[in-house]
Amino acid sequence: MKKAIQISTEDLVFQLDPSETLLEGLERTGHQVEYQCRSGYCGSCRVTLHSGRVEYSQQPLAYLRQGEILPCCCQPLEPLEISVGLITPVKKSA
Ligand code: FES
Repeated sequence: MKKAIQISTEDLVFQLDPSETLLEGLERTGHQVEYQCRSGYCGSCRVTLHSGRVEYSQQPLAYLRQGEILPCCCQPLEPLEISVGLITPVKKSA
C-alpha cells in the first residue's frame, strides 16, 4: 500500500495523501498553482523541483525544462522540495 509523502514548499510542509495528485495536494493546502488540462498536455502547472524524484505513468506531452515537474500527473517517489508558495504567503517574523 502506498504511503503519504512529505512535500516541502516555500511556505510549509504537508503530507501528500496517496489518493491525491500533487496538484490536488497543493490546492488543498492553499498553494498558488496554475493549471488547465490537469493531464500533462498544457504545461501550465509546471513547478521547479529542488529535491526528490517523481515518475509519470505516461510520459507527459508538455515541454519541461531540466528540474521541472508537472504536479497534475507526476507520482512522487520520495519526499519532495518544490518552489511553490501559498496564495496568501505566511509572514515570516523578522
Ligand atoms: S495542468 Fe496541464 S500539464 Fe498540468
